[in-house]
Amino acid sequence: MHEFRYVGDEFYCEDVRVGDLARRYGTPLYVYSHKTLLDHFHKLRRAFAPAAPLICFSVKSNSSLSLMKALTDDGAGLDIVSGGELHRAMRIKADPRKIVYASVGKTREEIVAAIRYGILYFNVESIQELGVISAVAQELRRDTRVCIRINPNIDPHTHRYITTGTVESKFGVDLETARVIFLNRPNFKRVSVEGVHVHIGSQITQAAPFVAALKRVLRFIDHLKKAGITVRTLNIGGGLGIIYKQEDPQTAQEYAEEILPLLTSRRLRLILEPGRFIVGNAGVLLTQVLYVKDSPKKRFVVVDAGMNDLARPSLYGAYHEVHPAQGARPDSKTTLKRSDVVGPICESGDFLALNRMMPLFDAGELLVVMGAGAYGFSMASNYNSRRRPAEVLVKGRTVRVIRQRESYADLLRHEKVVEL
Ligand code: LLP
Repeated sequence: MHEFRYVGDEFYCEDVRVGDLARRYGTPLYVYSHKTLLDHFHKLRRAFAPAAPLICFSVKSNSSLSLMKALTDDGAGLDIVSGGELHRAMRIKADPRKIVYASVGKTREEIVAAIRYGILYFNVESIQELGVISAVAQELRRDTRVCIRINPNIDPHTHRYITTGTVESKFGVDLETARVIFLNRPNFKRVSVEGVHVHIGSQITQAAPFVAALKRVLRFIDHLKKAGITVRTLNIGGGLGIIYKQEDPQTAQEYAEEILPLLTSRRLRLILEPGRFIVGNAGVLLTQVLYVKDSPKKRFVVVDAGMNDLARPSLYGAYHEVHPAQGARPDSKTTLKRSDVVGPICESGDFLALNRMMPLFDAGELLVVMGAGAYGFSMASNYNSRRRPAEVLVKGRTVRVIRQRESYADLLRHEKVVEL
């Protein structure tokens, strides 16, 4: 459930008409619902309550400081993947003991910053990386902790670009390498190798691949135990799928019901790293129709948001519902026409929706692109020298700008004109 809906024929976010937001703040505009964000976090927390896990919000899905703050104030930890995300976490004074850090390519500088801040765990993705973490920890004379990211070789049946746990993907280490790392733990001075991490992909709608991966990891933990090594922490990653179209994803409750029985009687500290599940349906992108034109085959609805604002359709062929903010509801009996909703960018791949039967939108109309909360703004770019959109957060009737629209001065901020 989310807080975006029609009241009569006006589209609302919580108690605010999105039409009013567009008039006041302009378009394209990202709009987030505070209630939806926290509701989804609470759903997961409630479902997993018996295990009292640390739920680390995956910052890459939406790196907005205000959303990170709303979640951490409510008890969430953070899952980060770069020095930049660490910097964001520090900016909101997030509790370092609730931060986990994954990435196949952490730089020395990033590792230094994370150890200094005192994060909970690095999720380590190679032996070489572990060596660097140990070297840095020794130089800094600081102890640090890691989990080993295991690549369980399980196909999660999602888009291949967001599949991360098969032998073909660059993430984590295979079980044999993980075993070698655990056996050689004492060699990595100042580093406590405490747990295992597994994340097999994103937008996974069924529990089966999660369960298969978890069983593989638990078997590994049991083998280690026989060798006298105790694993204390298990991070089962993120990846929970949401509804964009007509998916029927497992609920948080169903997911927990599959996972938790496998963990009873094990003394493991559980960590989750959801991104999309928490924020995906807590945000929409508002965009205005600039022009419409009809070709012999279809109608092109040219809008003021492009692939630089929301890359998912172009990058993954992802489906996002598009609704009119005023007037005809998508399910009402209006004339429909096969349409593409396209952006202003000079590429044919610049679309938000393709070949949809849609009402006859016209210039000036406001459209709502649904499910844009996760991997929306966080993947936005300045391609075509476009300014990235503003973001607003709605709570009840209250609206706050959480990021201003970029200015033309912002676009040029780091550039110099040199003549050689
Ligand atoms: N943990 C790790 C180690 C990850 O790599 C990811 C996402 C997550 C957690 C959070 O996954 P989530 O719960 O959000 O599925 N840009 C793509 C998704 C990329 C996901 C990358 N990793 C998209 O728009 O679909």
